[in-house]
Parts: sequence; C-alpha cells; structure tokens
Amino acid sequence: MKKYRLIVVTCFVIAGLSVNAQTGRDAKMNSYIKALMSRMTLEEKIGQLNLPTVGFDITGPVLSKDVEQKIEKGLVGGLFNTFTPDAIRKQQDIAIKKTRLKIPLLFGYDVIHGHKTIFPIPLGLSATWDLPLIERTARAAAEEASADGLNWVFSPMVDIARDPRWGRVAEGAGEDTWLGSQVAKAMVQGYQNNDLSKNNTVMACVKHFALYGAAEAGRDYNIVDMSERKMLEYYLPPYKAAIDAGAGSVMSSFNEINGVPAAANKWLLTDLLRTKWGFTGMVATDYTAIMELMNHGVGDEPMVAELAIKAGDDMDMVSEFYINQLKKLVESKRVDVSYIDQACRRILEAKYKLGLFDDPYRGISNDRAAKEIMSADKLVLAKEAALKSMVLLKNENNILPLSSTAKIAFIGPMIKDQRDLIGNWSGAGDWKKAQSLWDALQTQYPTNNFMYAKGAKVIDDTLLLNKLNRFGANILPETLSPAQMIDEAVAAAGKADVVVAFLGESCTMTGEASSRSDLSIPEGQKALLKAIKATGKPIILLLMNGRPLTLAWENENVNAILETWFGGTCGGDAIADVLFGKYNPSGKLTMTFPRNVGQIPIYYNAKNTGRPFSENEKFTSKYLDVPNTPLYPFGYGLSYTTFSYSPITLNKTMINASDKLEATITLTNTGKFDGEETAQLYIRDVIGSVTRPVKELKGFQKVFLKPGESKSITFTLTANDLKFYDINMKYTYEPGAFKLFIGTNSTNVKEADFKLTL
Ligand code: NOJ
Repeated sequence: MKKYRLIVVTCFVIAGLSVNAQTGRDAKMNSYIKALMSRMTLEEKIGQLNLPTVGFDITGPVLSKDVEQKIEKGLVGGLFNTFTPDAIRKQQDIAIKKTRLKIPLLFGYDVIHGHKTIFPIPLGLSATWDLPLIERTARAAAEEASADGLNWVFSPMVDIARDPRWGRVAEGAGEDTWLGSQVAKAMVQGYQNNDLSKNNTVMACVKHFALYGAAEAGRDYNIVDMSERKMLEYYLPPYKAAIDAGAGSVMSSFNEINGVPAAANKWLLTDLLRTKWGFTGMVATDYTAIMELMNHGVGDEPMVAELAIKAGDDMDMVSEFYINQLKKLVESKRVDVSYIDQACRRILEAKYKLGLFDDPYRGISNDRAAKEIMSADKLVLAKEAALKSMVLLKNENNILPLSSTAKIAFIGPMIKDQRDLIGNWSGAGDWKKAQSLWDALQTQYPTNNFMYAKGAKVIDDTLLLNKLNRFGANILPETLSPAQMIDEAVAAAGKADVVVAFLGESCTMTGEASSRSDLSIPEGQKALLKAIKATGKPIILLLMNGRPLTLAWENENVNAILETWFGGTCGGDAIADVLFGKYNPSGKLTMTFPRNVGQIPIYYNAKNTGRPFSENEKFTSKYLDVPNTPLYPFGYGLSYTTFSYSPITLNKTMINASDKLEATITLTNTGKFDGEETAQLYIRDVIGSVTRPVKELKGFQKVFLKPGESKSITFTLTANDLKFYDINMKYTYEPGAFKLFIGTNSTNVKEADFKLTL
C-alpha cells in the first residue's frame, strides 16, 4: 500500500514538474514570438502565411514562380517539394542571410510511406495490424526526411474511406474508425517522437481535414454531404486521435462539407478543430485550395482570401492569394489584422517548436544524410513491413507455399517491375533501388527451373495509357503485339508445373486523381489470365494494387491469391519469401473487397435495416443480381496454417458502468506452420436510442503460435468502449443487451452475450 502511495505521489510530482516545464517552455516561446512579431511589418506577417512549391511533383494546375526572389523579400513562410541538405541549405540561406528578420523557412514534403526507403503503401501497412511496426516506419521516415533537410511531412492521411473507386484509399488505413484512429496515433508518434525540437523528428500534418474519404461517387475533389452523426461517429475520430497525439499541423481538404468548402469552413477549422477539440497547431490548405474556392463558387479572389483566413487556414499552399490580397483586405477593413497575427503566430510557433530559431538547418549535412538514408536497419524494416502487409486471399488445397524445385512460369507485367513496386506517392524514393520479384528470385534461388514471360502490358487501352504515362508511369511500348505476348506466356505455362501470375494496377492508377469506375484487373491482363487458365496449369495469382479490386472471376478460377499491394523498396524480396514459405502471411484486410462495383459503398459496420437480407424473401434489402456479402470481408486474411477459436468465456454476463468485462478465448494453431493470427473483437449494441451497426471493431490481438500450440487471450472492455452518440447527440453508453464477437475476421466469429446495467 505504502509503495503504491509512493508511486502515486511520485507520478504527481513528475506530472507537476512536466506541466511546469511545459508552461515554462510555452512562456519562453510566447515571449520570443511576441518580441519577434512586434518587429514584423504587415507584409512580413502575411509572407509567413505563404507556402509555395519549389517546382517538381506538381499536384495541381499552378506552379509557384520566382520563389527565391519572394523568399528574399520575406514573402515566404515555408516551401515544399524540395529536399537534400544542399538544396535546403541554399534556400534556408536566403531566408537567414538575406531577409530583414532572418526568420527560417519550414520545409514540407509528401512523405507518405517512407522518404527514400519506401515502405508498403499505407493501405498495405494498415493490413499488418501492427501498430508498433507502423510507428517504426514513420520514425524511420522521419529520420531520413529530417536528415535530408525536411522538417514537416504531409502525413498521416487519416481519411476513412468506404469507396474503393477513390484512388486515394491507397494512402489511408482503410474503412474502420477505431483501427484508423490507432494508426493515426502511431504515425504521429513515429514522426514527432514527442519532441519536435530534436533534429531527427518532423512535424506531422493530419489530412485531409475533413471527410475527404467520403468524396461523392469516389471521385477526387468531389463534394461531401453528410449528417453530423455520421461525421462524429465514423469519419472524424481519426483526425481527433492524431490531434490528441500531438500532431503539429492539419491540412484542410479540397472537398466541400454540406455546401461549405473545407478551406472556407469556419465551423470546421475554428469551431470544431480549435474551440471544441483544443487544437493549437497550424492549419495549411491543400494545393491551391484557396484559389479553388472560386470554382466552388463562393467568391472572387479577395472574397475567397477573406473567407479562408477567417475560417482558420493559416498557411496558403500555392494559391498566393494571401500575399496578393490580405494586405488590401486589412487596409479596407474587411479583415481585421488580428486574423493575420493569429495565423502568423501559429506558424512561428511551429518553427519555434521545431527548433528552427536555434538552428535553422537542424544539423543537416551530407554525411548525416548518407548515414541515415536507406541504412541497413531501414531496409530490414521495409522488408518486415512488406512481409507483414501481404494478405493471403485464397489458398486452395494449400498450394502455397511452393517448392523452389518446382518448374514455375512467372508471368505478368509486374514480375520484373520496379517502378510500380514502390507505389504511388513514394516520397523521394528511387524505384531503381527497389528489387523486382524476378531479381529477388534470381538472388534467392539461382535455379534454371524458373521461366519468365511478361504476357501483357499493365494497360493496353491507349487513351488511359497516355494519361498514366503523362503523370509519371513508365509503361513502355512492347515490340510484340498483345496476342504474341499471350502466346509467349502460354508457351511458358505449358512447360511449367505451376504458374505464378503477377498482375494488377500500375502505381499511377492509384493515389490522387486516380479514381476508377471499373475495379477489375485491366482487360489485357485479364485476357492473359484467361489464356493461362485454358492451359489447365494451377495458377497462383499475385496482386499489385492500391485498392480493393473486384476479383469474382479470379476467385473462382485461380488456385491461390496473394495480395501484395505496392510493397515498397523491399517488396520483391518479401514476396519471394512468402511464395516459398520462408514467411507465413499474416496480413488482414482493412477494407472490404466487393464482388462488383455496384455493391459500393460496402463496409462491415453496416446497419441491419428494417428488412435485413433474406435469400428467400423478395422484399428484403438486397440486390437481384449479386449477394449482399463482399467477396472478402473486412479483417479477412488466410495463413499457411489454420487457427481454431474456442467458444468465448466471459468473467461476467452483466456489467455496470465501472466494471471490467473480460472476454477470453483459446486460440490454437491447428496446422503445420508457425503462424501469426490477428484475433479481432467486435461488439453489437442490440437496442439503442438510435440504430447501431451490426458489428463494431473494439480491439485486436496479434498472437504467434507454433503448430499445435494454444494460447488463451483475454480482451478487456469497459462501458466506455460501448459509447456512441445517442438520440440527443450525447456521447454515452446505454444500458441493455450487447453481443460480443471474437474471430478471425469480421464475419467468421464466435459470439457471446452480455448486458450493461447502470
Ligand atoms: C494535394 C494532395 O491532396 C495533398 O495530399 C498533398 O499533401 C498536397 N497536394 C501537396 O503535395
């Protein structure tokens, strides 16, 4: 008891000291910034609000001009799309040596899944369900990016998405709010490591605030119209989680929300973000988003600049409407100078927290960059992440893993592909440094048993191909016609015991401005697969893609399917390990795979409706031509081994608001391989003042088991885990009956019942 008291007292003392230290640091920062701002002219303050791009990697219709002259005039607060110690030093030198007040610049970049060591795309990373691993990837990215001169990353993207037509689902953690919130936290923690003043951390930027993942019809830049209940319950929590984890900045999104574009949305950027959530960091717009307010139809140039600053956008990315309009707006008294002061202060605070006023270069040097970038430990991590991200979707008669002595025809445009392997928005990653599957095979298995044929181009459709190549794809012309390529592949298949077909999307078919209305494997590749099928040889289908695809035919017709996403720098090596059983796949889907596009939006935490699906009754909620069920549900993923779940035992079947409910199962590895399982916990609130989803994820545990081994695992829930927005929009729990499920995915579960009393 005494010991306990001592611990508690010590904790209070430590907490008190750290609150004091924090207050002391804040006071120091405040007086520093106050003094600095008292010396700034209005133009210089507005200059801090300007965020131009240095040039390459454009994601909008406009590029910034005369950037270096603007820096010199004090008209730039930060830059993005530039890196390397030399380039950053050169630009920071202008700010530090040539401007009146020597205010350092922020340097931002889209470090999305790694800076130079590229990890699997975020959707793939989320399929690891491994939060410490995800945090480590963000940490590694921060180490590389900061060594390369950057201090700000435009990540994590935490947009919940239920529509795989949207190309940007590749950049997020999938459809689930709870899991998405955990991933958001882990990423912020990895980037910022609780201390932005350290030279090896970078400021996170939570995006796209808000609700961008719900863009109508899965079309980029499109509108969002959503009830407050749906926002609060499903879409907003991951942003909040990232902010609670200390994210230093937020990016306002392109979309409108219920008629008001996010960049002009005071309710969103001030009332919700700051007043309600207590966010004190800085907000930057997305690329030219202030300019785009004119297209949205809410004003002319002065008007939209006024709307944006009053809504709460501190930094203007690329539009330059702030530097062109705000001074005039202040002079004509349309905008009070306090808005400019407030935005400027937030940006200077970010710079202060990053330690830029102490060392504007944050210790960068070419030596440090050489040591950090693509270091051996980061490559090991990239491989681990790629291994754990892969999801085994089908494995008929345990055809996988393969024996390396088998005669195998490796067929498909992805087999020797390096460019697509690192995925879209692959930071500053160099695809030439990624090892293709074929190269990995040659290194790991120097054998003559492996044959190769490309079989098809990723895309045959010339129109689409031209579009993709224009935006950075590397789909080269072929000397053979599509038919000749297929013939060659069929000939290779004929000589083999088994075919490994590696098909999918080019990386540019995913990400920004890459919405698709058809989610099948592109036609030419599908024709190839059908021709291979006709040979009668068993087929292992490897998929490279950045979103759920529609795979009904493939699921029927091939023997095994392995989802490899865009696996990153070490993706090829990792796939080879999985194919031949050096690693037993353990990934689980974080987004539902539909049977066809007509089922979209399709997600596991749906409502029951008044007429739940029933096969034999006409007037129930269903389609005539496709079942309601997905092809592969949320949480799904097989293993080379099998796991059995015992029935659930509960410590109580009735809990009150202060009780702990413990749900225990015994998990057994019933197969022949070592393996890792992700056991998932879901609940259902059976009766509520408002309707509740049929399942909601509330926890998971990853368990490694040897063949024959069993482990008992216990999940603990409290009434807090049962909260939702009730009929009066109060976030609370309601007494009554609940169902609790534990299982291997969102549909294959054991079930137990309990009650909450108050
Ligand atoms: C547009 C994208 O929506 C955003 O995610 C990105 O960070 C910016 N461009 C900057 O490149």
